[in-house]
Amino acid sequence: MQTLAIIGSQWGDEGKGKITDLLSQKADLVVRYQGGNNAGHTIWVDGKKIVLHLVPSGILHPHCLSVVAHGVVLEPEAFMTEVNRVREHIPVNGKNLLVSENTAVITSWHKLIDAAREGQGAVKIGTTGKGIGPSYEDKIGRRGLRVRDLLNKDQLFKRLSETADEKIFLLEKRYNIKAPTVAEETERLWTLGQTMKEFVGDAFGILQDSLVRGKKVLYEGAQGTLLDVDYGTYPYVTSSNTTAAGIHTGAGTLNGRVDEILGITKAYTTRVGEGPFPTELFDEVGQYIQKTGNEVGATTGRIRRCGWLDLPALRYAIQCSSLTSIALTKLDILSGMDVLRVCEGYKVDGKVFTTARPGMDLARVEPVYRDLKPFKDDFASDKLSTELQAYINLIETELKIPVGIAAYGPDRQQIKFRKDYF
Ligand code: GDP
Ligand code: IMO
Ligand code: MG
Repeated sequence: MQTLAIIGSQWGDEGKGKITDLLSQKADLVVRYQGGNNAGHTIWVDGKKIVLHLVPSGILHPHCLSVVAHGVVLEPEAFMTEVNRVREHIPVNGKNLLVSENTAVITSWHKLIDAAREGQGAVKIGTTGKGIGPSYEDKIGRRGLRVRDLLNKDQLFKRLSETADEKIFLLEKRYNIKAPTVAEETERLWTLGQTMKEFVGDAFGILQDSLVRGKKVLYEGAQGTLLDVDYGTYPYVTSSNTTAAGIHTGAGTLNGRVDEILGITKAYTTRVGEGPFPTELFDEVGQYIQKTGNEVGATTGRIRRCGWLDLPALRYAIQCSSLTSIALTKLDILSGMDVLRVCEGYKVDGKVFTTARPGMDLARVEPVYRDLKPFKDDFASDKLSTELQAYINLIETELKIPVGIAAYGPDRQQIKFRKDYF
């Protein structure tokens, strides 16, 4: 296995950071290919918590080159703040962190527009407020700024002069918000560009070259399948392709393939922000999972909505990304509960569907549940209880792909491998 992708198979926060960090031990490159600092990937090392938003989760391994590829949207100020925070743990320089010169930039206007739309717009998505959507809009609209533009002041001023007027007009006339001028934004971004210069380079070329030389590459996805702009619960989605397709447009592969596509899957389901969620629990069971699982957003501090494992959504996630195996996380949170359920189908107008579909109105589906025997494992030995084994077997039988990793705690060590990776 030379290449491996980490994909969120639900609505994000499945434990991608922890699994990426763990598998990075054997990788040469770790590549972020979509999303931006809307992500919050938590890693616990020796009792210390590190939350990464934009810097790839391979950064804690000195032998790894962490790459922010061209499919990402990068907010330079947040990026440098994060780099300096990571430097408290490990040296970070142009040798272990590389940003593509073609990566799209998030400007002050993007952040202001994101916040204004959430507060005053017609549809509230519950975004992270980081300017992700507006920046991707400009990229697709061919008005965007790229990291390379930050390094040439004249080019930066010219590019902003050509493209900023609509955004300033929108902020000041529609939302009544004072926007920075082109000159102010040029100065701010130019200064930031100078501080991040050492990281900027030809990420695509270096990645291709590494692949040809047989280096092991881990692609680190952000968000989750149901937040994908094409496959997710539109419009309650993020603005990038969070599924495996995003790897091909956002970073690049060798011969169009990724050897292993690992779907990170929480043993239950969570969602943060607005939008439909078929298995959401509104009772004390949901509250118990939220509290015990410490389900609080790593980026915004919002409480995550909680519910049972959703097999129709997972069958769909497997189709969307051609997932080859699953890492099941947070099994410890379900351990010791009095009830254990999984959703095995969606009832819509009297008909039962076993797989979610794009455009299916998940707000209208009624989950069909199967009750299972609860398990009570302390994970102290290698042996799993019959009940937990049955839970994992059911998932493997229903999803028809192996559960290659079972995780039972936030730390690097709290994991059981059932399959080899890398
Ligand atoms: P990501 O966005 O997919 O990287 O996930 P987050 O970091 O946002 O959220 C996952 C949370 O669960 C983090 O606080 C992790 O430290 C924690 N976590 C990951 N795996 C496990 C596990 O198996 N058990 C427990 N209890 N916590 C876990
Ligand atoms: P990680 O990588 C969970 C959600 C937001 C909102 C929607 C759109 O940590 O799993 P955006 O700011 O992207 O325009 O918000 O997407 N969202 C996430 N939810 N985990 C994430 O990332 C998320 N990134 C965005 O809450 O509902
Ligand atoms: Mg997260």
